[in-house]
Amino acid sequence: MKIITIVGARPQFIKAAALSREFAKHPDIEEVIVHTGQHYDPNMSGIFFRQMEIPEPHYNLHINGLSHGAMTGQMLEKIEEVLLAGKPDRVLVYGDTNSTLAGALAAKKLHIKVAHVEAGLRSYNMDMPEEINRILTDRISDILFCPTGTAVRNLHKEAFESFDVQIVRSGDIMQDAALYYASKARKPNLELPGKYILATLHRAENTDNTLRLRAIFEAFNIIAETMPVVLPLHPRTAKIVQKLKINTDKIKIIEPVGYFEILYLLQHSVMVMTDSGGMQKEAFFFAKPCMTLRDETEWVELVEHNFNVLVGADKDKIVNTYHNHRFNRDYTVDLYGNGNAAKKIVETLM
Ligand code: UD1
Ligand code: UDP
Repeated sequence: MKIITIVGARPQFIKAAALSREFAKHPDIEEVIVHTGQHYDPNMSGIFFRQMEIPEPHYNLHINGLSHGAMTGQMLEKIEEVLLAGKPDRVLVYGDTNSTLAGALAAKKLHIKVAHVEAGLRSYNMDMPEEINRILTDRISDILFCPTGTAVRNLHKEAFESFDVQIVRSGDIMQDAALYYASKARKPNLELPGKYILATLHRAENTDNTLRLRAIFEAFNIIAETMPVVLPLHPRTAKIVQKLKINTDKIKIIEPVGYFEILYLLQHSVMVMTDSGGMQKEAFFFAKPCMTLRDETEWVELVEHNFNVLVGADKDKIVNTYHNHRFNRDYTVDLYGNGNAAKKIVETLM
């Protein structure tokens, strides 16, 4: 079976690493990796392929830094060429980025079966580019690999059982990656405080809204008076912070780090503050409380179990939650499977 996997953004490299390891165990599966080029800085792309020994992409389309329409459109055109030449049996896409939608749409129009890993997630906020991408990708996918029970239920609410599709609860592929690579965690090459909060920030709803962005940084500055805040900063946010001259004096801002370094930072942190999808779960995997800098999340089970609190971009709420909230510290509940998602996905594909 020939599978063409489409990746483009940082989280997809991590997911692809976990699944590629499983594909490699099956001689009758041939995987061809296509990198759209959406992420391209060495520490946003190449480092993940090297660290996790992901097979070198067969194609890099070098499409990045464009508006949504231009980026998705150019990807669609180029991916179609690759698919016509490569004639895969299946196209595999991950998550909810522009690369995901472009890959799924190019394949579907060529009547190639699409498998979507991380299907069924919903924020119910249609202003998010990710929500548009994931809904459309789900609708044109043939096999929907859901990470959680909620994701399966979301698809049923949208009557997906009446479509000619296969819905599989696979568990979360990020859990596979975190479990497998946890022991490879590596200290970043910089001085770290003994105790610190690990923060990340990159979502358009925060970076593209000056009021929200300023409020979050004000909260970080206040919290950093009592507990250091280490912030590996996504290039998108770095550019905007610089342009708006936002005060970040008290925060330890560092360049984005590789996966092994973020695992170290997670393992040694006291808490996580983030608007990242992946980091919300990784906080749980490594038994750290999490505050999510968004108004809603797709990973609702973390909030329901009080491992995670949605604090939005409300300065007072961020500071008060940090000081006063009592998080659930019993991390024994199984929310995301046992790290067997890759196995289940490959078995289903076969
Ligand atoms: C994308 C995804 C988002 C995901 C995130 C993971 C979409 C719509 N968004 O957001 O869902 O959570 O990836 O990190 O697909 N940039 C660089 N260097 C890089 C990568 C990006 O400078 O290596 C800059 C780009 O030039 C652009 C900005 O960051 O100016 C945003 O990049 P883009 O890929 O459009 O979206 P992300 O914010 O990374
Ligand atoms: N990550 C990393 N280095 C960093 C920040 C994040 O390796 O400096 C990893 C982290 O494991 C996270 C993953 O990248 O789960 C996902 O990336 P991101 O937060 O950019 O995207 P999202 O999960 O929100 O789509």
